[in-house]
Amino acid sequence: MRFRPPRSAARTTTARAPRGALAETVEAPPEHMRAVLFDGPGDPSALRVDTIPVPSPVMDEVLVRVVAAGVNPIDAKTRAGGGVTPGIASYPVVPGFDLSGVVVASPFEAHPLPPGTPVFGMAAVPRTAGAYAEYAVVPSTSLARKPSSLSHVEAAGVPLAALTAWQLIVETAHAHEGQRILIHAGAGGVGHFAVQFASYFGAHVSATASAANASWLRELGAHVVIDHTTTRFEEVATDVDVVIALLGDESTVTRSLQVLRPGGLLVVVPSSGWPGYAEAAADAGVRATRFKVVPDGVALSTIGRLLDSGAIQVYIEDVFDLEDAADAHRHLETGRTRGKLVLQVSDG
Ligand SMILES: NC(=O)c1ccc[n+]([C@@H]2O[C@H](COP(=O)([O-])OP(=O)(O)OC[C@H]3O[C@@H](n4cnc5c(N)ncnc54)[C@H](OP(=O)(O)O)[C@@H]3O)[C@@H](O)[C@H]2O)c1
Repeated sequence: MRFRPPRSAARTTTARAPRGALAETVEAPPEHMRAVLFDGPGDPSALRVDTIPVPSPVMDEVLVRVVAAGVNPIDAKTRAGGGVTPGIASYPVVPGFDLSGVVVASPFEAHPLPPGTPVFGMAAVPRTAGAYAEYAVVPSTSLARKPSSLSHVEAAGVPLAALTAWQLIVETAHAHEGQRILIHAGAGGVGHFAVQFASYFGAHVSATASAANASWLRELGAHVVIDHTTTRFEEVATDVDVVIALLGDESTVTRSLQVLRPGGLLVVVPSSGWPGYAEAAADAGVRATRFKVVPDGVALSTIGRLLDSGAIQVYIEDVFDLEDAADAHRHLETGRTRGKLVLQVSDG
């Protein structure tokens, strides 16, 4: 099963396109919209739904009517006072990086993403409006056309996690035949894309996950799945070229150094990862780096083509109404999500 149907549908309105737009009809943006906000760091109950002004795009920004918004660990970390909190200039804040929806206003009349275009992408937050809202402004370079074979709910689960996996596996690890890659937390949002990209480019893929996710990860391309509840991964994985550590605790990092070949590369992905990683890696004779995902509409276009071709797929574990964003965060914070969680914001 790739996704569950939404729990409820919300209203939309249609109207004539604004003067100058190339598309015949678009959703006319109202002055106000529903959005999820929080007024300062807190637990999931800090998330509340309110009515706020629809943001106005400037320069190259595109105004998107959001149909579905992806839920990511960075959203919950930021809500709790971590994540991108240092970038928050003032509260309240609308969380959310990932969205899929329809262009309402483009930067100029002949723009390649005209009004009416289905798009998906990774919005910049918290410096601009977030994705847990009926409308969001997104830099045009962060968007791509939505893969036609995916629903908006499916597409909303893709951008941040798939871009992270792409930038890790393709742009950092340069995955190729004969290479041995170990992916920690292979069953999560980033992990399930990382397993697929590494396998697609011919690498030998090992992944850690619980037994319940083992056969699914093998279907996605993992050659070896190590059950982290029963087996220490360093007893199975050896001579690894690249470790993608989607868990950054000291135990995972230090034990990962033992499985790398001399000169191999450890990538510590969580920003909150153990700070002693670099010195420990130098002592072990391997390389190590942190990582930051970058919004990238061009790479997202390529990922969209791989999704449309069937070469890779997105797994949506559950869909929540926008009003139930707090429940989505509670679910995410269990650390047991298979694939992605998505908020249904409005009708497609
Ligand atoms: N630096 C960046 O730019 C960047 C970008 C994206 C994400 N991140 C970070 O990367 C991390 C992963 O993100 P995500 O979206 O993939 O998270 P996620 O979807 O919440 O990951 C959940 C998965 O973690 C697995 N897991 C939990 N404990 C495990 C363990 N001990 N061993 C192996 N697997 C375990 C679970 O699998 P089982 O149930 O099978 O155990 C579950 O499927 C987060 O900390 C996120 O904030 C950083």
